[in-house]
Amino acid sequence: MVRVGTLPFRLLCLEYGADLVWTSEIIDKSIIGATRVVDEKSGVISYIKGDKDVFTTHPSEKEKVVFQLGTADPDLALAAAKAVEGDVSGVDLNCGCPKKFSVAGGMGAALMSDPDRLCAILEKLVQGLDIPVTCKIRVFDDVDQTLHLVRRIAATGICALTVHCRTKVMRPSEKAMWHRLKDIVEELPDLPVILNGDIFERSDVQRARDETGATSVMTARGAAANPSIFRAEGKLSAMETAVALTKLAVQTSNVFLNTKYILLQMHPETKSKSFEILNKSRRYKEMCDAMGLSEYYETEGIHLIHERSEPAKTKNKPGRVRLGAVSTANKRKLDEEQDGSSVVQSANLVISEQSAKVETKLDVDQKSILGSETKPPASAEIADIAEAPAAKRLKA
Ligand SMILES: Cc1cc2nc3c(=O)[nH]c(=O)nc-3n(C[C@H](O)[C@H](O)[C@H](O)COP(=O)(O)O)c2cc1C
Repeated sequence: MVRVGTLPFRLLCLEYGADLVWTSEIIDKSIIGATRVVDEKSGVISYIKGDKDVFTTHPSEKEKVVFQLGTADPDLALAAAKAVEGDVSGVDLNCGCPKKFSVAGGMGAALMSDPDRLCAILEKLVQGLDIPVTCKIRVFDDVDQTLHLVRRIAATGICALTVHCRTKVMRPSEKAMWHRLKDIVEELPDLPVILNGDIFERSDVQRARDETGATSVMTARGAAANPSIFRAEGKLSAMETAVALTKLAVQTSNVFLNTKYILLQMHPETKSKSFEILNKSRRYKEMCDAMGLSEYYETEGIHLIHERSEPAKTKNKPGRVRLGAVSTANKRKLDEEQDGSSVVQSANLVISEQSAKVETKLDVDQKSILGSETKPPASAEIADIAEAPAAKRLKA
């Protein structure tokens, strides 16, 4: 999800039990030629182009993060994917985004109307990459047209297909058409199919799988509202989740305004009186103070924040402030960039059933960055993906 699913959000979802996290759509040309900068203290990896952090990641998510590409060209797609291949677990082609900036460039949902191009991109990626390739689509109104497309997509050799169970013109408020997935699953017996649309509770996961036969499910708004949706033990309170997110944001030097934005999306309570100080905060120190994290900020955060802000900051245009107080002009700029989707990466998330077959191990580094004991290894739909004959294996 653009704006919401930045690095700290993805790390938090993984900590709570998500098996895989997707970045937001990042446009091919925006990552090609970016400089990879590693912050030695935090381990955070930034792909910087011009004055923009195009993509930010950390080794602790490497085994679980799928890089989502916005592209309309096979060669550019491969060049972009190659640029990040060493830092991610898979590459996903976005064929579902209906937004104007995407379809106008022949990307996103436009690719569904140009299956030759769509499949040429996937084939190029499958042949050229050493990591798995996945694809995310919507459905057509017409069932046969949808089945024809998914057959062609499956034949490219991808290792999983995500289906957002809405058509291109459907609004998010309209009920996702889970019933449309059943045929697709039956049509593709060898390919893991991930259901997306209207997963808001853990209980929805099993219901979705029972009703459709989907291998696993992906949630966007459900996780944005409360990332602890992934916890087998149940959701946490707004304050608990906010504190955990803030700690990760500080550790990874996430852009302050982005952190605040995520927090304000998370729970209705964060807009209430009890979160007033948070709402008024204009920098990490104030935010941490508001959440009882003053000591944490002083000991853990302050050095990392200043260290990591340097590479991008030096390249920033005059007046742009990455951290702390941000002027209205800068805030507007940040908002525009983020709405354009290529600047701030975000995630869609896969929840698996508890009984999935293979266990994936969290990277040891994650212990340090998450600052807590690692949870038991997350079971994953990766098992099913690995079993598909045509699939390349996700690192597990
Ligand atoms: C704020 C926001 C940002 C999104 N960004 C992306 C994106 O970058 N790539 C993508 O494939 N889908 C994106 N989506 C669509 C979601 O991934 C998902 O397909 C859609 O919201 C339906 O799932 P849900 O019912 O779980 O929210 C975004 C959705 C939202 C609400």
